[in-house]
Amino acid sequence: MSDWQTIDFFSDESLVEDPYPYFDELRAECPVLPIPHLGVVAVSGYEEATEVYRDPDTFSSCNSVVGPFATFPVPLEGDDVGEIIDRYRDQLPMHEHMVTMDPPQHTRERALLMRLITPKRLKENEDFIGRASGAQLEEFLSKGRCEFIRDYSQPFAMLVVADLLGVPEEDHQRFREGFGLSVNPGEMGKEGMEGDLNALSWLDAWFTEYVEDRRREPRHDVLTDLALATYPDGSTPPVEAVVRSAGFLFAAGQETTARLLGAALKVLAERPELQDELREHPELIPDFLEETLRLESPVKADFRLARRSTSLGGVDIAAGTPVMLLNGAANRDPKQFGCPAEFRLDRPSQAHIAFGRGIHSCPGGPLARVEGRVSIERILDRTRDIRLSEEHHGPPGDRRFRYEPTWVLRGLSDLHLEFTPVEGSR
Ligand code: HEM
Repeated sequence: MSDWQTIDFFSDESLVEDPYPYFDELRAECPVLPIPHLGVVAVSGYEEATEVYRDPDTFSSCNSVVGPFATFPVPLEGDDVGEIIDRYRDQLPMHEHMVTMDPPQHTRERALLMRLITPKRLKENEDFIGRASGAQLEEFLSKGRCEFIRDYSQPFAMLVVADLLGVPEEDHQRFREGFGLSVNPGEMGKEGMEGDLNALSWLDAWFTEYVEDRRREPRHDVLTDLALATYPDGSTPPVEAVVRSAGFLFAAGQETTARLLGAALKVLAERPELQDELREHPELIPDFLEETLRLESPVKADFRLARRSTSLGGVDIAAGTPVMLLNGAANRDPKQFGCPAEFRLDRPSQAHIAFGRGIHSCPGGPLARVEGRVSIERILDRTRDIRLSEEHHGPPGDRRFRYEPTWVLRGLSDLHLEFTPVEGSR
């Protein structure tokens, strides 16, 4: 029996450290493959994953986050289960967030969000990103060492979302404390670190306050834009809907970006020559980030549910089947990317699917890219000789890393770096 037949993707710990041999096995067997656990069909081919992303009529997003753990009160029987999905979708986890919605509800919610993430807002946010990056680095630069995820990428990514939403800078410290990301963490809001979105009740309370305040007394600020934004038909969403969207942006934008930055710094620490090349040619930093996203896609598995019986890549898929889109596997499909396991700065194609595709494709992608570019520019400017801490990660040839124990995300739990600080030019 091959490994893919015995390994349970949803519980096997070996996949946390390195899922790629398993992904390669799946793809080699068939890019669209029913696996022996939870009735899931795994899609590990690039073309096939893209096809699913682009076909929301056939593949519902109702299970996009929880995958096969989205259970319905009645069996999903027959060749078309669309009606059952629509009747019971409100009973599924995360149903209130746009990522699990299908058109037309999704179209409406997404339009509301896109009124907030405008090019003008992103431009203003970029100024903040530069300042936040500098301030975050100052906290540890002189020490010549850091645990990068906790000292830099998590607080940085969180504050960027806070700024995007217009949280005033004087409130940023309380957000850091709320998320447990303070330099001197207070007692408040520690629960926020432990649970899921529902555990962020303090965040809901603060945003309810902001939105109600701005609806009462509009000001010239982003929170007022957030509070007064309307659906495309001109109707005003209830306060809870605005608060929910804000909370979801923290959930969707924080850990993903933090893990991208972690992966990028690991690549740099392992390749001193790349550090020098990017210092000399900072215009290559965007390509460097795209290649990191391709090679270590932060969202490992995304899901859809077949609304009706169909076929994909010549494989029959019954209505009601949970379809698992393995971005990390598709982004290493040799049919799309030559020598896919190699890090190549000069790869011609940038068409990875780390941000998904189609109507749900990540609206935070442009923001994550700016966060990555600004961070790498500054870090390279303020340091020399970034290296992995042998004390924590072992010597060359015998390195060890810890990854987040989840089947949803791919990312380092910690990354201990050492470096020589220098006076920067920025
Ligand atoms: C490296 C960082 C990021 C990665 C890899 C990433 C990845 C993704 C992926 C794969 C999806 C598609 C989900 C699906 O089709 O089921 C998605 C959706 C989404 N992302 Fe991101 N994301 C990142 C950063 C962000 C940021 C910074 C924000 C916002 C501040 C954000 C907000 C969202 C939202 C709101 C959705 C749902 C969109 C919809 O359903 O229409 N993401 N993201």
